[in-house]
Amino acid sequence: MSDPSFSTNLLAYGSSKTALNAITLAFAKEFLGTSIKINAANPGYVATDLNGHSGPRRVAEAAAIAIRLATLDADGPTGGFFNDAGVKPWCAARWSET
Ligand SMILES: NC(=O)c1ccc[n+]([C@@H]2O[C@H](COP(=O)([O-])OP(=O)(O)OC[C@H]3O[C@@H](n4cnc5c(N)ncnc54)[C@H](OP(=O)(O)O)[C@@H]3O)[C@@H](O)[C@H]2O)c1
Repeated sequence: MSDPSFSTNLLAYGSSKTALNAITLAFAKEFLGTSIKINAANPGYVATDLNGHSGPRRVAEAAAIAIRLATLDADGPTGGFFNDAGVKPWCAARWSET
């Protein structure tokens, strides 16, 4: 698998992130029609305490997506999951043994 996260299969961590996506959608729905935007950010693999500073990205790089989402215009997106490249499907795994 080319995705570096494929080598880990952390049940509690992954489940908590799935719950976070559900909560993001629930809050976004609650605030639809207002200027309040609720989105989730994926910072990429970042060198922090979480991974013993093994990630290739710096915290300052990772912060960019959070800042972008925190400063959206009133007509910006809501209920999405974003990284630097844009909206990211959070359940798009199509694995194959071949
Ligand atoms: N690093 C990555 O590659 C990466 C990739 C994708 C997503 N993320 C996500 O980004 C978020 C931040 O991760 P990180 O890499 O910055 O991890 P980190 O370096 O381990 O920092 C975690 C932060 O959470 C705080 N914290 C932990 N338990 C807490 C609690 N019970 N109550 C309040 N604060 C608590 C810690 O506070 P103290 O410093 O006071 O302990 C610390 O500030 C996490 O949700 C993680 O899943 C990280």
